[in-house]
Amino acid sequence: MIKHMPFKNNTVLKVACVALYLIFFNSSSAQNQSIQDSRIIQNIDSREKMSLDGLWQVIIDPLENGYYNHQYDLRDKKAFYKNKKPKSPSDLIEYDFDSDYQLTVPGDWNTQMEKLYYYEGTIWYKRAFNYKKENSSKDILYFEAANYHSIVYLNGKKLGEHEGGFTPFQFEVTDQLVEGENVLIVKVDNQRKKEGIPTLNMDWWNYGGITRSVHLIKVPEQHIADYSIQLNNKNTEFIEGWVKIEGSTESTEVTIEIPELKKKVNLTTANGYVNFKIKVSPKLWTPDNPKLYKINISTAIDQVEDEIGFRTIETKGSKILLNGSEIFLKGISIHEEAPYDLGRVTSKEQCLILLQWAKELGCNFIRLAHYPHNETMVKEAEKMGLLIWAEVPVYWSVAFDNVSTLENATTQLEDMISRDKNRAAVILWSVANETKEDESRNKFLKSLTDKIREIDPTRLITAALNSQTIKGNGEIIAIEDQLGQYVDVIGINSYCGWYGGTPGSCKKIKWTNNYDKPMIMSEVGAGALQGLHGTAKERWTEEYQEAVYKDNIEMMEGIEFLSGTTPWILKDFRSPRRHLRRIQNDYNRKGIISEQGIKKLAFYTLQAYYMSKK
Ligand code: GCU
Repeated sequence: MIKHMPFKNNTVLKVACVALYLIFFNSSSAQNQSIQDSRIIQNIDSREKMSLDGLWQVIIDPLENGYYNHQYDLRDKKAFYKNKKPKSPSDLIEYDFDSDYQLTVPGDWNTQMEKLYYYEGTIWYKRAFNYKKENSSKDILYFEAANYHSIVYLNGKKLGEHEGGFTPFQFEVTDQLVEGENVLIVKVDNQRKKEGIPTLNMDWWNYGGITRSVHLIKVPEQHIADYSIQLNNKNTEFIEGWVKIEGSTESTEVTIEIPELKKKVNLTTANGYVNFKIKVSPKLWTPDNPKLYKINISTAIDQVEDEIGFRTIETKGSKILLNGSEIFLKGISIHEEAPYDLGRVTSKEQCLILLQWAKELGCNFIRLAHYPHNETMVKEAEKMGLLIWAEVPVYWSVAFDNVSTLENATTQLEDMISRDKNRAAVILWSVANETKEDESRNKFLKSLTDKIREIDPTRLITAALNSQTIKGNGEIIAIEDQLGQYVDVIGINSYCGWYGGTPGSCKKIKWTNNYDKPMIMSEVGAGALQGLHGTAKERWTEEYQEAVYKDNIEMMEGIEFLSGTTPWILKDFRSPRRHLRRIQNDYNRKGIISEQGIKKLAFYTLQAYYMSKK
């Protein structure tokens, strides 16, 4: 329109100028992350906070006796969240947190008490803490994660509920807190549900409990609630993003400073938000040089510091380009399970052990399966130069035609993206693992891919499929799954030599792909009991596993559209589906390292392959 009627009169000119201004200085350009109305505060590491970790009093309540509300007086007395104490010796209160069991938070309950090893149900957690009120500050109760369904009470009042075992949730509690002793009670239920995410069946231990840390975060009333800072994927001369100020609709002065790049910009919010674009060319983040820049975001009364890397990620045909150059993703899959038999990861040290094993393997990439791992794992991987595949637990036979299941999956996806959107190392969002192809599944997963394109068009979308079609007498395997059209990168789980074929039968297989898109072999591997030796024909021996690796590596080398792989899996992990007592003993034995941290032969096979690959 403008081209045909330039300068006809001033109004046209004015409109044109405003449009130009919006394009360059204020509005978010297409490839930037759209402003999210996130449910969680960004980057709690940078916040003043009181840890509520440690020993919590618990009541194990398989019949949810302490829950049901006020139909019968008696039941009211049993409402555990009221933390009632007998008022007189004749008073009947049939529970008492303070003389009951204790569990450590963060931590799963299954590995803390023999009698809870298989337990799926409700446990009530109680934590008392002292609090000193401060004016003009807000208090946020922040759970890094609790599996699976949590109901949270503070001083007898219900704050709210959360569904999903692997993403953070928070409650603003400024008005609920009292001076002195406060009592926090959390009902955690890890029962699996058909309509849940994940659903009833999964090949990992359903560790229950408050599995990650709990914090009481203090922020000014008007505070920096969220922000996105990234390199423009198309024009790397610009860093761009947005900042969201909570607690004020007035315009607020916000400063973004990148000291090392001698950049400082002053911005003004409107309705609590401001977009920005900074002309600067930072050193790019790469696996060999995982460069992070200290960034300060501040207002007159608040400040947040973060360490952010800048990189571009895209696909070109069947290639994945990092910073414009083709990269082969040398990866490994990892479950968030601590080494040495200790259940869910609960410390930075445990994260570092797993990540150092991946580095030792020669990896530049990790698949964090099958759910969002803790934030420390993501941040430490980024510092170590490991690119990341992050995933929501839309796993196997999910209730794809159930609307609330889709809402639940979408919420988990949004929260995963919200928490880690500033992590340059995260390059892939995965929407599913091994889901049967049909119309409701395609619709469900398309809706998730659309959601990602809406809130984070800067990263690649993938899913792990096992729907490949075997053709001829198995010498051809074709990727034809409909979902291929909605993702940017196609993940394939293939167990040639284990769930089909024999070691030696895989190398000849030819792969075809209906899509001109990169493929990642997201799972490949075999089981072996560490220390069990024999011939490559004997299952469960290290030699058999090694042979499967050698054979599949040769097969993968023949796939021209292969851009990476994350063999299954770094470490043996617990699974209730692994019953072969003398071998598996509740462990999936496809690790190339045992649960006791001992490397198997296949570890060195994969290491040699990665060392040989550019
Ligand atoms: C599947 C699945 C994994 C599982 C693995 C196995 O591919 O994605 O979660 O552990 O197979 O059977 O070992």
